[in-house]
Amino acid sequence: MKKILVTGGLGFIGSHTVVELQNEGFDVVIIDNLSNTTIDVLENIHAITGKKPEFYKIDLRIKNDVNSFFENHTIDGIIHFAAYKAVGESVQKPLDYYENNIGSLVYLLQEMNNRNIDHFIFSSSCTVYGQADNLPITENAPTKPAESPYGNTKQIGEEIIKESCKAYRLNAVALRYFNPIGNHESIKIGELPLGTPQNLIPFITQTAAGIRKELAVFGDDYPTKDGTAVRDYIHVVDLAKAHIAALKRLITKQNKTNFEFFNVGTGKGSSVLEVIKSFEKVSNTKLNYKIVGRREGDITAAYADTTIANNVLNWQTTKSLDEALDAAWKWQQKQ
Ligand code: UFG
Repeated sequence: MKKILVTGGLGFIGSHTVVELQNEGFDVVIIDNLSNTTIDVLENIHAITGKKPEFYKIDLRIKNDVNSFFENHTIDGIIHFAAYKAVGESVQKPLDYYENNIGSLVYLLQEMNNRNIDHFIFSSSCTVYGQADNLPITENAPTKPAESPYGNTKQIGEEIIKESCKAYRLNAVALRYFNPIGNHESIKIGELPLGTPQNLIPFITQTAAGIRKELAVFGDDYPTKDGTAVRDYIHVVDLAKAHIAALKRLITKQNKTNFEFFNVGTGKGSSVLEVIKSFEKVSNTKLNYKIVGRREGDITAAYADTTIANNVLNWQTTKSLDEALDAAWKWQQKQ
């Protein structure tokens, strides 16, 4: 049985990926510093899969702690989620973002190199494309200068991995996520935004639940079908399964080059107003919202061309926007 280290394994995408790894028979060990989640998630994973993953509260910025973890564990592969992810905050605290997102990555790659750990999956983002010139976005689209320190950590992160793969003969896959939403059907794990949510779906569900007075729709003057911005919202369970597909590709040595990257989305673009309409339908509620000005740094539209991911990773999304919103609403109601 392969033993997979999942960093940030108690976070939103991490916890869903741990569940899928366990379902596929992998042995999972989680490292998380609990900076943006709680320890309850570990029990909730256990409740879903019947298996409690090994867990260590370690901060990956502390090199000695990372080193002693690897001294004591034999790991076959790493899925690296642990990172800061708030675009706006990254503009205020760029050095925190570089220290956490880049420092941790470097320490992990050093351990991999020193110990001949071969397989690495990296959480990247469609933010590397900026506002792409052509839609849907293929993996061949050029990367654009990052709009935020957060986005820059994903671009630099990919570069560091690519160069390390070349120099040290590691094998890695970067998955460029579009917009992950929803949660596991058990409603036992999900997104836990701290404070005021920055992302659309938690803001919608909190507004419907009466926690927020109204949703501000950022701009209706974009050159899109209804004037609101378009994104590719992917169910987090589908996204989690992309990690399993990528890991299996590395384990079975099917990768064509030692650093590969894939777009992980649904291929379908939805506008903010379409998301609101879908949400109102599945939740049978009326959402209080108001159109306001554009949010700084937002792009007009981004959705994935998933041809390469579908064919090469042999992976497909199976869940609809409605299903994801229904799950997100049930999760909100449970909170
Ligand atoms: N939006 C609103 N009101 C809100 C929140 C969001 O109208 O209260 C709109 C945004 O303007 C955008 C869409 O809803 O058009 C989606 O916004 P999110 O903040 O949910 O997602 P983003 O696409 O802006 O950001 C996501 C990830 C980032 C990543 C980025 C890559 O959250 O980590 O995709 O493009 F960098």
